Amino acid sequence: MELQKAIVERRSCKTYNHHTTADDSIIKEMIQLASYAPNHGMREPWRVIWIKKNRLAEFAALFADHAFKNDSDKKEKHIETLSQLSGVLIVVGKYDRRQKQFLEDVLAVGAYIQNLSLLFHESGIGSCIKTPGVLTVPGFNNALSIAADEMIYSLIYLTDADGSAPIKERKNTELLTEW
Ligand SMILES: Cc1cc2nc3c(=O)[nH]c(=O)nc-3n(C[C@H](O)[C@H](O)[C@H](O)COP(=O)(O)O)c2cc1C
Repeated sequence: MELQKAIVERRSCKTYNHHTTADDSIIKEMIQLASYAPNHGMREPWRVIWIKKNRLAEFAALFADHAFKNDSDKKEKHIETLSQLSGVLIVVGKYDRRQKQFLEDVLAVGAYIQNLSLLFHESGIGSCIKTPGVLTVPGFNNALSIAADEMIYSLIYLTDADGSAPIKERKNTELLTEW
């Protein structure tokens, strides 16, 4: 797929109302390829936890327990929704207390996530980056064995690319100024 077309046509797929599956070998391949993202000092400051289809309900319950507390209706709905996905990727990165290194790592992880998004798009897998508040809840991090020098950057929901997701036009395409 041509790069320019992939950049414009990649979009966040946010409809999770039917069961989807994805080939395990493709997910593994995409995770390997995404690691060619630029990163300073070759720190490669990312790792990915893969929640496969058969563990989605369990993961959704963990998420709900930390996000919705005692709201059992919300929990049931959340389990139902997430169970339809092909899988969830949890993108974990270094949490470097040094400001410069932290900025570099955030930028590198962003590049890594965009690589993944484009690769999934090219492979016909729908994806959406998710950054719910629960990502910073200590109990949620503990349950996922996130280390003290790490943080969760995002979840990536995997689904199918059913074509219903709109391509959103961009407004700020002409913001180039000269100095
Ligand atoms: C850092 C980041 C965090 C995001 N978090 C969420 C989120 O929590 N929930 C969600 O539905 N979409 C989330 N998105 C997806 C954006 O809503 C989406 O990229 C944006 O609307 C543009 O649409 P497009 O990706 O289809 O071009 C996130 C995207 C980025 C880059």
